[in-house]
Amino acid sequence: MDTAQFISKANTNSVEKASFTWQTPSNIALVKYWGKSNPQIPRNASISFTLNNCHTITTIDFMRKRNSELDSESEKVVDFDLFFEGKQKDAFKPKIAEFFKRIQEYCPYIFDYKMTINSENSFPHSSGIASSASGLSAIAMCLMSLESELNPDLSAKEINKKASFLARLGSGSASRSIEGPMVVWGNHPEIEGSSDLFGVQFPYKVHPVFDNYQDAILLVDKGEKQVSSTVGHNLMHEHPYAESRFTQANENLSKMSEILQNGDIKAFVNLVESEALTLHAMMMTSNPYFILMKPNTLEIINKIWEYRTENNSNICFTLDAGANVHVLYPENEKEKVNHFIENELSIYCQKNHYIYDTVGLGANKM
Ligand code: PMV
Repeated sequence: MDTAQFISKANTNSVEKASFTWQTPSNIALVKYWGKSNPQIPRNASISFTLNNCHTITTIDFMRKRNSELDSESEKVVDFDLFFEGKQKDAFKPKIAEFFKRIQEYCPYIFDYKMTINSENSFPHSSGIASSASGLSAIAMCLMSLESELNPDLSAKEINKKASFLARLGSGSASRSIEGPMVVWGNHPEIEGSSDLFGVQFPYKVHPVFDNYQDAILLVDKGEKQVSSTVGHNLMHEHPYAESRFTQANENLSKMSEILQNGDIKAFVNLVESEALTLHAMMMTSNPYFILMKPNTLEIINKIWEYRTENNSNICFTLDAGANVHVLYPENEKEKVNHFIENELSIYCQKNHYIYDTVGLGANKM
């Protein structure tokens, strides 16, 4: 695979001091990624809705080290401080240090700077909403802003592509948090330009029924997950159904591509829910097995099914690797469904907490 294209070119400019702020979104997969090989190569292609309200805002201040501060070649370390919501957060440092290690080959300039990272999420901390996608894509965009000052020749397209490539090395799904409204990650014969190395905007015209699609995130469980995504992905290595799952997911992406273009919303509902339950079925049939859904997850699913039948609605649900439920519905049902959520679903949420979101357009420079 051609990763050499992502190694930064020799700097044409010198930058002593710089500061960049990016707002980048979370995303929710419609066809799920679960299972990978090294280094962060997905075993099947996936597609997601980019979100809008659930995002991270990150500023990185870069200060060029003086020559005397530069490390010798053998002792190079990436020098950074990390603040989350205004407070120094050393607990998050190992994950970010590991991320820098994975990308240093592609961004060697990170050794030349002392970085101060300030980050905050629009959604409550430990709400159970995965923050790695928005968090890592924001850092990737800040790095690319520096890189484009060092190398002003980079086009906007190249910047986004490399940002997605870098974000992927931190967390696979983060590769889908640079652009919007729909992003495919993973090489797929029917999606032009798709790649295992970075996410691409869904390249075909999407039916207007999916414009401004709604996603209400019901926070069933805000606690830490018992099984991390990393462990879950690894359990796919010995999984008895892994190969057929990867084949199915790629077939489902073909179907989803057609649905997004022809606007067959009934087929959308069916495919999205089937993907969510299949993801969780993979968890339940791993060894060791685990269950991330909670009783209230199932209560909500049953209520959604009841509501759909009674109201001839196109509401559906999806899940990520946790107990929270993403309720998806077209904009023309917004008023009625929001009522339903407030009156009948919020009781299943921790502290009645839910977040209204919509499909969004990706990273924003502040
Ligand atoms: O990006 P990771 O390693 O946190 O994995 C995310 C996996 C799912 O959210 C469960 C599915 C997906 O495609 O986003």
